[in-house]
Amino acid sequence: MSTQQIKQDPLSILDNTFRAAIAKALGEEGNFDPVIRAAQNPKFGDYQCNAAMALAKSRGIKPRDLAERILAQVELGDVVESMEIAGPGFINITLGRAMLGRTIESMDDDRLGIPPQGDGHVITVDLCGVNVAKQMHVGHLRATIIGDSIANLHERLGWTVHRENHLGDWGLPIAMTMTALRNSGADLGQLTLDALNVAYRDAQLSGRSDVRGLEGAIAHGCGPHRIAELETQNEGAIENISDAKETLIALQSGDPELVAEWNALIDCTMREVFDTLGLLNVNIGPENNRGESFYKDKLAGVVETFIESGIGVEDNGAIVVRFEDRERPLLIRKSDGGFLYATTDLAAIRHRVHELKSERVVYVVDARQKDHFKDVFDGSRKMGWDKTPDGIESDLHHLPFGSVLGRDKKPLKTRSGENFTLRALLEEAIERGTGEVIARAEDFNAPTHGMTRDELESIGRAVGIAAVKYADLSSGVTRDYIFDLDRMIAFEGNTGPYIQYAHARISSILSKAEGEDIKWQNAGIQLDTAEEKQLGLAIMRYPQVILETAEQLEPHRLCTYLYDLANTYSSFYQCCPVLRNDDEDVRASRLRLCSMTRRILADGLALLGIESPSRM
Ligand code: ARG
Repeated sequence: MSTQQIKQDPLSILDNTFRAAIAKALGEEGNFDPVIRAAQNPKFGDYQCNAAMALAKSRGIKPRDLAERILAQVELGDVVESMEIAGPGFINITLGRAMLGRTIESMDDDRLGIPPQGDGHVITVDLCGVNVAKQMHVGHLRATIIGDSIANLHERLGWTVHRENHLGDWGLPIAMTMTALRNSGADLGQLTLDALNVAYRDAQLSGRSDVRGLEGAIAHGCGPHRIAELETQNEGAIENISDAKETLIALQSGDPELVAEWNALIDCTMREVFDTLGLLNVNIGPENNRGESFYKDKLAGVVETFIESGIGVEDNGAIVVRFEDRERPLLIRKSDGGFLYATTDLAAIRHRVHELKSERVVYVVDARQKDHFKDVFDGSRKMGWDKTPDGIESDLHHLPFGSVLGRDKKPLKTRSGENFTLRALLEEAIERGTGEVIARAEDFNAPTHGMTRDELESIGRAVGIAAVKYADLSSGVTRDYIFDLDRMIAFEGNTGPYIQYAHARISSILSKAEGEDIKWQNAGIQLDTAEEKQLGLAIMRYPQVILETAEQLEPHRLCTYLYDLANTYSSFYQCCPVLRNDDEDVRASRLRLCSMTRRILADGLALLGIESPSRM
C-alpha cells in the first residue's frame, strides 16, 4: 500500500507543482522527486525544494542554473507567493496566503478534510488477547490500547473494522484450572478473578515438568515461545495432567456440567476484564470476543488440509511444517494428537482472510511472540490462506510491542515482586489525575473553580487515563518504556494532560466568544502574521498525518503531531490577540483558527481513545 496524497496537504500541493516544473526544466520525460522539505526557519520561507543539486550533478549542469530553470517553470501566484534560490541550489518557497486560507476553510467540515478511502476495505485487529482465569496485567494495556487506536484510525478512514479479542479460553491450561477448582470444591458462582488466578497458577505449578515433551520441542529447534507454551501446557504432575486431559475430552464432547462450569469461568473472567476495559475508555465489548474455543472444531480440518497438500509432514508422530530459511519447524499437531496455539492461529487466519475478507490483519501482541507469528504467517502463505476471496494478498502483520518497565528498567513489578494488575495501575493513575485536577480547581481563576466533586472526579479520571494512554502510545509501539506516573501526569511537556489542557483552554476562549455572541463560523481565514501562518500550515497537515499513522500502524506519529499542533497554537496565542482584537475580520478569522485547532485536538485524541474535557 502506498500513501494516498491529500489534496489539501501543503507538501503534496508543492510536490505536484514542482514535479511538473522539474520535468519541463530538464526537458526530459520522467518523474523526478522534487525533494520538498519543510523549511527549518520560517524566515526563509515555508518549504524548500532540494532537488536541483542531485539532478544537476548527474547532468553536468550547475545546480544553481538548474534551480533557475525550475523557478522559471513554476507559476507564481496562487500556490506560491515567492521563491528564492539559496546556497548551492536550494529553492526557498513561500506559499500563497490566499490559497492557504481557502484550503483551510475547505477542511472545516465534518471530516476535517480526511478523505474516506472508499468502500470495501476490511481490517481485522487482533487486540487485548486476555486469558480466561488470568488477571489483566500491564502487557494487556498495550495489546488493548494500541489495537483500539489502530481500529479507530481505520474506522475514521471508512474501513470495515473487526476488533477480535482472541481470548485464551480453550485447551489444557483451562482444563487444569477447572480440575484444580473441582478438586478444591470451590463454589464457581462465588469466585473472583483473583481466586481463579490463584487456581490457575497452582494448577500450573503442581508437580514436575513433562520433560519428554520439552526435550522433544528443543530437539525440533522450537523457538522460545513454543517451548514456553509446551512448558505451561505440560507442566504439572503427571496425574494432574491426565485428570485435566480427561476433563478436556469431556468438555470437548459437550458434557453439560463441565460446559456450564467452563462458561462460569469465562463469565467471571470477562466481568472483571470489561470492568477494567471500562476504565480504559476503549471500544471493546462482549461482541468482540472470539476466543480460541471458536476454532476448536476446525483444528483437525486445518491439520488434515496441511497434510493433504504435503505441507504438513510427520515427524516422530507429530505433524510439522518446515521452512527453507529456518531450522525450527512449525508444530501443528503434537504426537499425542493434541493441537497447539499455532494450530488455532492458522484456523483464525483462514477465518479472518476468507470469511471476514480482511485485506489487513494486524496482531497487536507482545514482541516475544515474534517467531510464532512469523511461522504461522509463512505457514498460511504456503497454503495460500493469505488470499482473500477477491484474490487480494492480505497484509498479515504482527505489531510487536515492547515491555513496560519500572524505574529500575526491569519489567514493572509491585514492591513484593508481583506483577501489577492493570486495574491497580489504572486506579493509581486515576487517583493521581483526580488529585491534580482538584488541586488546580482551588485557584480562584481556574475554569474548574466551584465545580462539584463529581464533576472534578470525572475530569480527573479522564486526565489520569489520558496520562497512561498517551505515554504508552507516544513512545512508539516497538520500544520498551518506563512507567513513570510523575512524568506522564504533568501538564507540561509531551504528555496527554498537556494536550487535553491546550484543548480545554481553546474551549474556554470559544465559549467566551459565544457568550459575547461573536460569529466566526464562516469567517474568511487570514494568515497575515508568521504565527497565524504556522498554525494554518499545522492544521493543513492533519489529514495526511491520519493517513500515514493508519497506514504505518504508528500511533506515535499522531501523538507527535498533536503535540506540535498544541505548541504551534500556544505560540500563535501568545503573539496574536484573539478576543481583544478590534478588527472584526481578523478576530473572526482567528477564532475560526482556534475552533479548527480545538476540533483537531479533540478528534486526534478521540482516535487515540483519549477524552477531551472542555474544562480543566
Ligand atoms: N492469549 C495470548 C497470550 O496471552 C494472546 C493472543 C494473541 N492473539 C493471537 N491471535 N495469538 O499470549
